[in-house]
Amino acid sequence: MAQTILPLLLGALLAISSVSACIYKYGTSPDSLAAPHGGSHWDHGRNGEDWDGVDAAGKPWICMSGKRQSPINVPFSNVLDNTGSHVPSSLQTKWSYPVLVSNGSNIQVINNGHTIQVEWTSPWTGNAKIAVPANATDNTTVTSVLHMKPDARATYVTATPYQFHFHATSEHLLAGRYFPLELHIVHKVTGLPGCAKGCYTVTGILFELSDGADNSVLNSIWYNMPTREGEIKHLPKGAQIELGRLIPKTSERDYVTYEGSLTTPPCSEGLLWHVFTQPQKISRAQWSQYRAAVGLKDCTLKNATTTTTETTNTTETTNTTSSEHVHRHHRLHRHLLSEEATTSHPEDYTCEIVQYGSNFRVSQLTYGRTIKVARAI
Ligand SMILES: *[C@@H]1O[C@H](CO)[C@@H](O)[C@H](O)[C@H]1NC(C)=O
Ligand SMILES: *[C@@H]1O[C@H](CO)[C@@H](O)[C@H](O)[C@H]1NC(C)=O
Ligand SMILES: *[C@@H]1O[C@H](CO)[C@@H](O)[C@H](O)[C@H]1NC(C)=O
Ligand SMILES: *[C@@H]1O[C@H](CO)[C@@H](O)[C@H](O)[C@H]1NC(C)=O
Ligand SMILES: *[C@@H]1O[C@H](CO)[C@@H](O)[C@H](O)[C@H]1NC(C)=O
Ligand SMILES: *[C@@H]1O[C@H](CO)[C@@H](O)[C@H](O)[C@H]1NC(C)=O
Ligand SMILES: [Zn+2]
Repeated sequence: MAQTILPLLLGALLAISSVSACIYKYGTSPDSLAAPHGGSHWDHGRNGEDWDGVDAAGKPWICMSGKRQSPINVPFSNVLDNTGSHVPSSLQTKWSYPVLVSNGSNIQVINNGHTIQVEWTSPWTGNAKIAVPANATDNTTVTSVLHMKPDARATYVTATPYQFHFHATSEHLLAGRYFPLELHIVHKVTGLPGCAKGCYTVTGILFELSDGADNSVLNSIWYNMPTREGEIKHLPKGAQIELGRLIPKTSERDYVTYEGSLTTPPCSEGLLWHVFTQPQKISRAQWSQYRAAVGLKDCTLKNATTTTTETTNTTETTNTTSSEHVHRHHRLHRHLLSEEATTSHPEDYTCEIVQYGSNFRVSQLTYGRTIKVARAI
Protein backbone atom coordinates (compact mmCIF):
# COMPACT_ATOMS: atom_id res chain seq x y z
CA MET A 1 0.00 0.00 0.00
CA ALA A 2 2.74 2.42 0.93
CA GLN A 3 4.34 1.75 -2.43
CA THR A 4 1.27 2.82 -4.35
CA ILE A 5 0.59 5.94 -2.32
CA LEU A 6 4.10 7.32 -2.38
CA PRO A 7 4.15 8.14 -6.11
CA LEU A 8 0.82 9.93 -5.70
CA LEU A 9 2.19 11.87 -2.79
CA LEU A 10 5.29 12.79 -4.73
CA GLY A 11 3.19 13.81 -7.69
CA ALA A 12 1.04 16.06 -5.57
CA LEU A 13 4.04 17.74 -3.99
CA LEU A 14 5.70 18.19 -7.33
CA ALA A 15 2.60 19.89 -8.65
CA ILE A 16 2.41 22.26 -5.69
CA SER A 17 6.04 23.15 -5.44
CA SER A 18 6.30 24.14 -9.05
CA VAL A 19 3.92 26.99 -8.42
CA SER A 20 4.18 27.96 -4.77
CA ALA A 21 6.51 27.47 -1.84
CA CYS A 22 10.01 26.22 -2.05
CA ILE A 23 12.63 25.47 0.51
CA TYR A 24 16.28 25.77 -0.13
CA LYS A 25 19.44 25.35 1.74
CA TYR A 26 22.62 27.30 1.44
CA GLY A 27 24.12 26.76 -1.94
CA THR A 28 21.07 25.47 -3.76
CA SER A 29 18.88 28.52 -4.16
CA PRO A 30 17.62 29.64 -7.55
CA ASP A 31 19.71 32.77 -7.51
CA SER A 32 22.79 31.26 -5.97
CA LEU A 33 26.15 32.59 -7.08
CA ALA A 34 27.35 29.16 -6.03
CA ALA A 35 25.59 27.59 -8.97
CA PRO A 36 28.18 25.79 -11.04
CA HIS A 37 29.83 27.88 -13.71
CA GLY A 38 30.60 24.87 -15.84
CA GLY A 39 31.97 22.80 -12.95
CA SER A 40 30.11 20.38 -10.70
CA HIS A 41 27.61 21.62 -8.18
CA TRP A 42 28.69 21.43 -4.55
CA ASP A 43 27.44 22.43 -1.14
CA HIS A 44 28.19 21.80 2.53
CA GLY A 45 25.35 19.29 2.95
CA ARG A 46 27.83 16.50 3.72
CA ASN A 47 30.63 18.77 4.95
CA GLY A 48 32.85 17.94 1.99
CA GLU A 49 32.62 14.14 2.10
CA ASP A 50 31.03 14.14 -1.36
CA TRP A 51 33.26 16.62 -3.18
CA ASP A 52 34.29 14.38 -6.07
CA GLY A 53 33.31 16.67 -8.95
CA VAL A 54 35.20 18.43 -11.71
CA ASP A 55 36.11 22.03 -12.44
CA ALA A 56 34.84 24.00 -15.42
CA ALA A 57 37.54 22.48 -17.64
CA GLY A 58 36.50 18.95 -16.64
CA LYS A 59 39.54 18.46 -14.42
CA PRO A 60 38.75 16.45 -11.27
CA TRP A 61 38.90 18.28 -7.96
CA ILE A 62 41.56 16.95 -5.60
CA CYS A 63 39.39 17.10 -2.47
CA MET A 64 39.18 13.31 -2.18
CA SER A 65 42.66 12.41 -3.48
CA GLY A 66 44.89 15.18 -2.10
CA LYS A 67 47.33 14.44 0.71
CA ARG A 68 47.75 18.03 1.86
CA GLN A 69 44.17 19.00 2.49
CA SER A 70 42.63 21.48 4.90
CA PRO A 71 41.24 21.90 7.48
CA ILE A 72 43.02 19.76 10.07
CA ASN A 73 42.75 19.00 13.72
CA VAL A 74 45.83 20.79 15.03
CA PRO A 75 47.64 18.35 17.36
CA PHE A 76 47.80 18.93 21.08
CA SER A 77 51.56 19.50 21.03
CA ASN A 78 51.15 22.44 18.66
CA VAL A 79 48.53 24.12 20.79
CA LEU A 80 48.79 23.38 24.43
CA ASP A 81 52.38 22.55 25.35
CA ASN A 82 55.83 23.44 24.12
CA THR A 83 56.93 20.11 22.68
CA GLY A 84 55.84 20.95 19.12
CA SER A 85 58.15 22.24 16.45
CA HIS A 86 58.57 26.00 16.71
CA VAL A 87 58.86 28.88 14.27
CA PRO A 88 61.67 31.11 15.60
CA SER A 89 60.75 34.74 16.11
CA SER A 90 63.01 35.76 13.21
CA LEU A 91 60.83 33.76 10.80
CA GLN A 92 57.40 34.60 12.15
CA THR A 93 54.67 36.10 10.00
CA LYS A 94 53.76 39.73 10.70
CA TRP A 95 50.28 41.08 10.10
CA SER A 96 49.39 44.69 9.41
CA TYR A 97 45.75 45.51 8.77
CA PRO A 98 44.89 49.20 8.90
CA VAL A 99 41.25 50.30 9.00
CA LEU A 100 39.30 49.88 5.76
CA VAL A 101 36.66 52.59 5.36
CA SER A 102 33.58 52.40 3.19
CA ASN A 103 32.73 55.18 0.78
CA GLY A 104 29.31 53.60 0.20
CA SER A 105 30.27 51.49 -2.78
CA ASN A 106 33.76 50.03 -2.28
CA ILE A 107 33.03 47.27 0.27
CA GLN A 108 30.65 44.43 -0.50
CA VAL A 109 29.18 41.82 1.82
CA ILE A 110 28.21 38.86 -0.34
CA ASN A 111 26.10 35.80 0.34
CA ASN A 112 27.54 33.62 -2.43
CA GLY A 113 25.66 30.47 -1.54
CA HIS A 114 28.63 28.96 0.29
CA THR A 115 29.63 31.61 2.78
CA ILE A 116 29.31 35.24 3.78
CA GLN A 117 32.24 36.94 2.07
CA VAL A 118 33.58 40.48 2.26
CA GLU A 119 35.41 42.05 -0.68
CA TRP A 120 36.63 45.55 -1.46
CA THR A 121 37.51 47.44 -4.60
CA SER A 122 39.57 50.28 -3.19
CA PRO A 123 43.33 49.99 -2.76
CA TRP A 124 44.25 48.99 0.77
CA THR A 125 47.66 48.58 2.37
CA GLY A 126 46.73 45.65 4.64
CA ASN A 127 49.18 42.77 4.37
CA ALA A 128 50.93 39.85 5.98
CA LYS A 129 54.71 39.55 5.64
CA ILE A 130 55.95 36.00 5.20
CA ALA A 131 59.54 34.84 5.68
CA VAL A 132 61.26 33.09 2.77
CA PRO A 133 64.91 32.06 2.29
CA ALA A 134 67.12 35.01 1.35
CA ASN A 135 68.63 32.90 -1.45
CA ALA A 136 65.23 32.12 -2.95
CA THR A 137 65.19 30.08 -6.16
CA ASP A 138 62.42 29.51 -8.66
CA ASN A 139 61.42 26.60 -6.45
CA THR A 140 60.88 28.72 -3.37
CA THR A 141 57.21 29.18 -2.58
CA VAL A 142 55.27 30.65 0.27
CA THR A 143 55.41 27.36 2.19
CA SER A 144 59.22 27.29 2.26
CA VAL A 145 59.18 28.96 5.67
CA LEU A 146 57.96 25.69 7.19
CA HIS A 147 61.24 24.02 6.32
CA MET A 148 63.73 26.80 7.07
CA LYS A 149 66.35 26.31 9.75
CA PRO A 150 66.06 28.68 12.75
CA ASP A 151 69.26 30.49 11.78
CA ALA A 152 68.43 30.70 8.05
CA ARG A 153 68.88 34.02 6.37
CA ALA A 154 65.39 35.28 5.61
CA THR A 155 63.73 37.93 3.58
CA TYR A 156 60.05 38.80 3.66
CA VAL A 157 57.46 38.66 0.88
CA THR A 158 54.12 40.45 0.94
CA ALA A 159 50.81 38.64 1.09
CA THR A 160 47.92 40.92 0.16
CA PRO A 161 44.40 40.10 1.40
CA TYR A 162 41.63 40.28 -1.18
CA GLN A 163 38.64 38.76 0.62
CA PHE A 164 37.62 37.29 3.93
CA HIS A 165 34.76 34.98 4.81
CA PHE A 166 33.33 32.86 7.60
CA HIS A 167 32.60 29.26 8.50
CA ALA A 168 30.25 27.87 11.16
CA THR A 169 31.25 25.85 12.98
CA SER A 170 35.02 26.23 12.77
CA GLU A 171 36.92 24.19 10.20
CA HIS A 172 40.14 23.89 12.17
CA LEU A 173 40.09 22.08 15.47
CA LEU A 174 42.61 22.79 18.21
CA ALA A 175 43.58 19.61 20.05
CA GLY A 176 40.19 18.15 19.17
CA ARG A 177 38.19 21.22 20.14
CA TYR A 178 36.06 23.02 17.62
CA PHE A 179 34.70 26.55 17.80
CA PRO A 180 31.40 28.14 16.76
CA LEU A 181 32.87 30.34 14.04
CA GLU A 182 36.07 30.71 12.00
CA LEU A 183 37.13 33.69 9.89
CA HIS A 184 39.43 33.17 6.91
CA ILE A 185 41.44 36.03 5.45
CA VAL A 186 42.64 34.99 1.99
CA HIS A 187 45.87 36.56 0.68
CA LYS A 188 47.74 36.38 -2.59
CA VAL A 189 51.52 36.43 -2.42
CA THR A 190 53.47 38.72 -4.71
CA GLY A 191 57.16 39.21 -5.37
CA LEU A 192 58.33 35.60 -5.22
CA PRO A 193 59.54 33.90 -8.44
CA GLY A 194 58.13 30.54 -7.32
CA CYS A 195 54.74 32.20 -6.94
CA ALA A 196 54.50 33.56 -10.46
CA LYS A 197 51.54 31.28 -11.12
CA GLY A 198 49.97 32.29 -7.80
CA CYS A 199 50.61 31.42 -4.18
CA TYR A 200 48.02 31.85 -1.48
CA THR A 201 48.10 32.08 2.25
CA VAL A 202 45.10 32.05 4.55
CA THR A 203 44.89 33.32 8.09
CA GLY A 204 42.27 31.70 10.30
CA ILE A 205 40.71 33.32 13.37
CA LEU A 206 38.59 31.24 15.73
CA PHE A 207 35.69 32.62 17.71
CA GLU A 208 34.18 31.37 20.93
CA LEU A 209 30.83 32.36 22.36
CA SER A 210 30.64 35.06 24.96
CA ASP A 211 27.64 35.58 27.19
CA GLY A 212 28.34 39.26 26.97
CA ALA A 213 28.00 41.94 24.38
CA ASP A 214 28.33 41.62 20.62
CA ASN A 215 31.80 41.75 19.09
CA SER A 216 31.55 45.36 17.95
CA VAL A 217 34.27 44.91 15.33
CA LEU A 218 31.89 42.60 13.45
CA ASN A 219 28.92 44.99 13.62
CA SER A 220 29.41 46.69 10.27
CA ILE A 221 29.36 43.31 8.55
CA TRP A 222 26.64 41.73 10.66
CA TYR A 223 24.32 44.75 10.23
CA ASN A 224 24.68 44.32 6.46
CA MET A 225 24.71 40.56 6.16
CA PRO A 226 22.59 39.30 3.25
CA THR A 227 20.34 36.41 4.26
CA ARG A 228 19.56 35.28 0.74
CA GLU A 229 21.97 33.47 -1.55
CA GLY A 230 23.14 35.59 -4.44
CA GLU A 231 22.49 38.81 -2.56
CA ILE A 232 25.15 41.52 -2.27
CA LYS A 233 25.06 44.47 0.13
CA HIS A 234 27.36 47.46 0.18
CA LEU A 235 28.61 48.77 3.50
CA PRO A 236 27.16 52.23 4.10
CA LYS A 237 29.43 55.23 3.73
CA GLY A 238 31.64 55.67 6.77
CA ALA A 239 31.32 52.08 7.96
CA GLN A 240 34.67 50.56 8.92
CA ILE A 241 36.30 47.17 8.86
CA GLU A 242 39.03 46.76 11.42
CA LEU A 243 40.62 43.44 10.56
CA GLY A 244 43.52 44.45 12.78
CA ARG A 245 41.17 44.26 15.74
CA LEU A 246 39.61 40.96 14.63
CA ILE A 247 42.92 39.15 15.00
CA PRO A 248 44.43 38.64 18.46
CA LYS A 249 46.45 41.53 19.86
CA THR A 250 50.20 41.32 19.23
CA SER A 251 51.05 39.84 22.61
CA GLU A 252 48.57 37.00 22.05
CA ARG A 253 49.40 36.24 18.43
CA ASP A 254 50.41 32.60 18.88
CA TYR A 255 49.66 30.72 15.70
CA VAL A 256 50.03 27.30 14.16
CA THR A 257 51.19 27.02 10.56
CA TYR A 258 51.22 24.23 8.00
CA GLU A 259 50.88 23.54 4.29
CA GLY A 260 47.30 22.85 3.26
CA SER A 261 44.56 23.55 0.75
CA LEU A 262 41.44 25.51 -0.03
CA THR A 263 38.65 24.09 2.14
CA THR A 264 36.16 24.23 -0.75
CA PRO A 265 36.31 22.71 -4.25
CA PRO A 266 38.60 22.41 -6.16
CA CYS A 267 40.59 22.03 -2.87
CA SER A 268 43.84 23.23 -4.50
CA GLU A 269 46.95 22.61 -2.39
CA GLY A 270 50.18 24.50 -1.74
CA LEU A 271 48.61 27.11 0.56
CA LEU A 272 50.38 28.33 3.68
CA TRP A 273 47.94 28.27 6.57
CA HIS A 274 48.12 30.29 9.77
CA VAL A 275 45.58 29.68 12.52
CA PHE A 276 45.68 31.84 15.62
CA THR A 277 45.29 29.74 18.76
CA GLN A 278 43.80 32.56 20.83
CA PRO A 279 40.05 32.61 20.11
CA GLN A 280 38.17 35.87 19.74
CA LYS A 281 34.66 36.49 21.06
CA ILE A 282 31.27 36.51 19.37
CA SER A 283 27.89 36.92 21.05
CA ARG A 284 25.18 34.27 20.87
CA ALA A 285 22.98 36.68 18.92
CA GLN A 286 25.74 37.19 16.33
CA TRP A 287 26.25 33.46 16.02
CA SER A 288 22.52 32.90 15.54
CA GLN A 289 22.35 35.59 12.89
CA TYR A 290 25.18 33.98 10.95
CA ARG A 291 23.62 30.52 11.10
CA ALA A 292 20.32 31.95 9.96
CA ALA A 293 22.04 33.58 6.98
CA VAL A 294 23.47 30.20 5.97
CA GLY A 295 20.33 28.34 6.98
CA LEU A 296 17.35 26.67 5.41
CA LYS A 297 14.72 28.99 3.96
CA ASP A 298 11.10 28.44 3.01
CA CYS A 299 10.44 30.63 -0.01
CA THR A 300 7.21 31.52 -1.74
CA LEU A 301 6.93 32.81 -5.25
CA LYS A 302 5.16 36.09 -4.59
CA ASN A 303 2.90 36.28 -7.62
CA ALA A 304 1.89 32.65 -7.40
CA THR A 305 0.31 32.76 -3.96
CA THR A 306 -3.15 33.56 -5.27
CA THR A 307 -3.00 30.93 -7.98
CA THR A 308 -2.01 28.14 -5.60
CA THR A 309 -4.92 25.74 -5.36
CA GLU A 310 -5.24 22.95 -2.86
CA THR A 311 -4.24 19.99 -4.94
CA THR A 312 -3.12 18.18 -1.82
CA ASN A 313 -6.07 15.82 -1.79
CA THR A 314 -3.91 12.77 -2.17
CA THR A 315 -1.63 13.62 0.70
CA GLU A 316 -4.54 13.29 3.13
CA THR A 317 -4.91 9.62 2.30
CA THR A 318 -1.37 8.81 3.46
CA ASN A 319 -0.57 7.62 6.92
CA THR A 320 2.49 9.73 7.58
CA THR A 321 2.74 11.66 10.79
CA SER A 322 2.73 15.39 10.39
CA SER A 323 6.44 15.67 11.12
CA GLU A 324 7.29 13.08 8.49
CA HIS A 325 5.07 14.94 6.13
CA VAL A 326 6.85 18.21 6.75
CA HIS A 327 10.20 16.59 6.33
CA ARG A 328 9.40 15.11 2.92
CA HIS A 329 7.71 18.24 1.84
CA HIS A 330 10.82 20.30 2.52
CA ARG A 331 13.26 17.89 1.04
CA LEU A 332 11.32 17.65 -2.17
CA HIS A 333 10.94 21.34 -2.48
CA ARG A 334 14.61 21.87 -2.05
CA HIS A 335 15.36 19.27 -4.65
CA LEU A 336 13.07 20.93 -7.14
CA LEU A 337 14.65 24.27 -6.87
CA SER A 338 17.28 23.76 -9.51
CA GLU A 339 14.54 23.32 -12.07
CA GLU A 340 12.84 26.51 -11.01
CA ALA A 341 16.10 28.38 -11.15
CA THR A 342 15.94 28.93 -14.87
CA THR A 343 12.58 30.64 -14.74
CA SER A 344 12.67 32.58 -11.46
CA HIS A 345 14.45 35.58 -10.02
CA PRO A 346 15.32 36.19 -6.38
CA GLU A 347 13.06 39.23 -6.25
CA ASP A 348 10.08 37.00 -7.02
CA TYR A 349 10.42 35.17 -3.70
CA THR A 350 9.67 35.96 -0.12
CA CYS A 351 11.67 33.72 2.17
CA GLU A 352 11.34 32.75 5.78
CA ILE A 353 14.20 31.21 7.77
CA VAL A 354 13.16 27.83 9.12
CA GLN A 355 16.40 26.19 10.23
CA TYR A 356 19.93 27.23 11.16
CA GLY A 357 22.66 26.14 8.77
CA SER A 358 26.38 25.42 8.79
CA ASN A 359 29.18 25.67 6.23
CA PHE A 360 32.29 23.83 7.33
CA ARG A 361 34.38 21.03 5.88
CA VAL A 362 35.37 18.17 8.19
CA SER A 363 39.02 17.89 9.19
CA GLN A 364 41.42 16.03 6.94
CA LEU A 365 44.26 13.57 7.51
CA THR A 366 47.67 15.21 7.94
CA TYR A 367 49.79 12.42 6.37
CA GLY A 368 52.80 13.40 8.46
CA ARG A 369 52.82 17.03 7.40
CA THR A 370 54.97 19.56 9.22
CA ILE A 371 52.86 21.57 11.65
CA LYS A 372 54.67 24.27 13.56
CA VAL A 373 53.71 26.66 16.29
CA ALA A 374 54.82 30.26 16.64
CA ARG A 375 54.71 31.77 20.10
CA ALA A 376 53.98 35.47 20.28
CA ILE A 377 57.13 37.50 20.54
C1 LIG B 1 34.47 54.54 -3.79
O1 LIG B 1 35.67 53.84 -4.02
C2 LIG B 1 35.70 53.16 -5.26
C3 LIG B 1 36.96 52.30 -5.28
O2 LIG B 1 38.09 53.03 -4.93
C4 LIG B 1 35.63 54.16 -6.39
O3 LIG B 1 35.64 53.48 -7.62
C5 LIG B 1 34.35 54.94 -6.25
O4 LIG B 1 34.30 55.93 -7.23
C6 LIG B 1 34.25 55.57 -4.90
N1 LIG B 1 32.94 56.17 -4.74
C7 LIG B 1 32.75 57.34 -4.17
C8 LIG B 1 31.35 57.79 -4.04
O5 LIG B 1 33.68 58.00 -3.75
C1 LIG C 1 70.65 28.92 0.75
O1 LIG C 1 71.84 29.15 1.47
C2 LIG C 1 72.08 28.22 2.52
C3 LIG C 1 73.32 28.63 3.23
O2 LIG C 1 73.35 30.00 3.41
C4 LIG C 1 72.20 26.81 1.98
O3 LIG C 1 72.33 25.90 3.02
C5 LIG C 1 70.95 26.48 1.19
O4 LIG C 1 71.07 25.22 0.59
C6 LIG C 1 70.70 27.53 0.15
N1 LIG C 1 69.44 27.25 -0.49
C7 LIG C 1 69.31 27.27 -1.80
C8 LIG C 1 67.93 26.96 -2.32
O5 LIG C 1 70.21 27.55 -2.55
C1 LIG D 1 63.62 22.94 -8.71
O1 LIG D 1 62.60 22.13 -9.25
C2 LIG D 1 63.02 21.42 -10.38
C3 LIG D 1 61.83 20.71 -10.96
O2 LIG D 1 60.94 20.32 -9.97
C4 LIG D 1 64.16 20.46 -10.00
O3 LIG D 1 64.59 19.77 -11.12
C5 LIG D 1 65.29 21.25 -9.39
O4 LIG D 1 66.29 20.36 -8.92
C6 LIG D 1 64.82 22.10 -8.26
N1 LIG D 1 65.87 22.97 -7.79
C7 LIG D 1 66.19 23.09 -6.52
C8 LIG D 1 67.29 24.03 -6.20
O5 LIG D 1 65.61 22.50 -5.62
C1 LIG E 1 5.51 39.43 -10.24
O1 LIG E 1 4.81 40.65 -10.25
C2 LIG E 1 5.64 41.78 -10.46
C3 LIG E 1 4.77 43.02 -10.32
O2 LIG E 1 3.52 42.84 -10.90
C4 LIG E 1 6.29 41.66 -11.85
O3 LIG E 1 7.14 42.76 -12.07
C5 LIG E 1 7.09 40.39 -11.89
O4 LIG E 1 7.65 40.21 -13.18
C6 LIG E 1 6.21 39.21 -11.56
N1 LIG E 1 7.04 38.02 -11.50
C7 LIG E 1 6.63 36.86 -12.05
C8 LIG E 1 7.56 35.72 -11.87
O5 LIG E 1 5.59 36.74 -12.65
C1 LIG F 1 -10.17 15.18 -4.12
O1 LIG F 1 -10.61 13.85 -3.97
C2 LIG F 1 -11.93 13.69 -4.40
C3 LIG F 1 -12.39 12.25 -4.05
O2 LIG F 1 -11.29 11.38 -3.92
C4 LIG F 1 -12.03 13.93 -5.89
O3 LIG F 1 -13.37 13.80 -6.35
C5 LIG F 1 -11.57 15.35 -6.16
O4 LIG F 1 -11.54 15.60 -7.54
C6 LIG F 1 -10.18 15.56 -5.59
N1 LIG F 1 -9.79 16.96 -5.72
C7 LIG F 1 -8.62 17.32 -6.25
C8 LIG F 1 -8.35 18.77 -6.30
O5 LIG F 1 -7.79 16.51 -6.64
C1 LIG G 1 -0.92 4.26 10.51
O1 LIG G 1 0.21 4.37 11.39
C2 LIG G 1 -0.05 3.87 12.69
C3 LIG G 1 1.14 4.19 13.57
O2 LIG G 1 2.33 4.16 12.81
C4 LIG G 1 -0.34 2.37 12.59
O3 LIG G 1 -0.64 1.84 13.87
C5 LIG G 1 -1.53 2.16 11.66
O4 LIG G 1 -1.74 0.76 11.48
C6 LIG G 1 -1.29 2.80 10.32
N1 LIG G 1 -2.48 2.72 9.50
C7 LIG G 1 -2.44 2.31 8.24
C8 LIG G 1 -3.75 2.34 7.54
O5 LIG G 1 -1.41 2.01 7.67
ZN1 LIG H 1 37.35 29.44 4.29
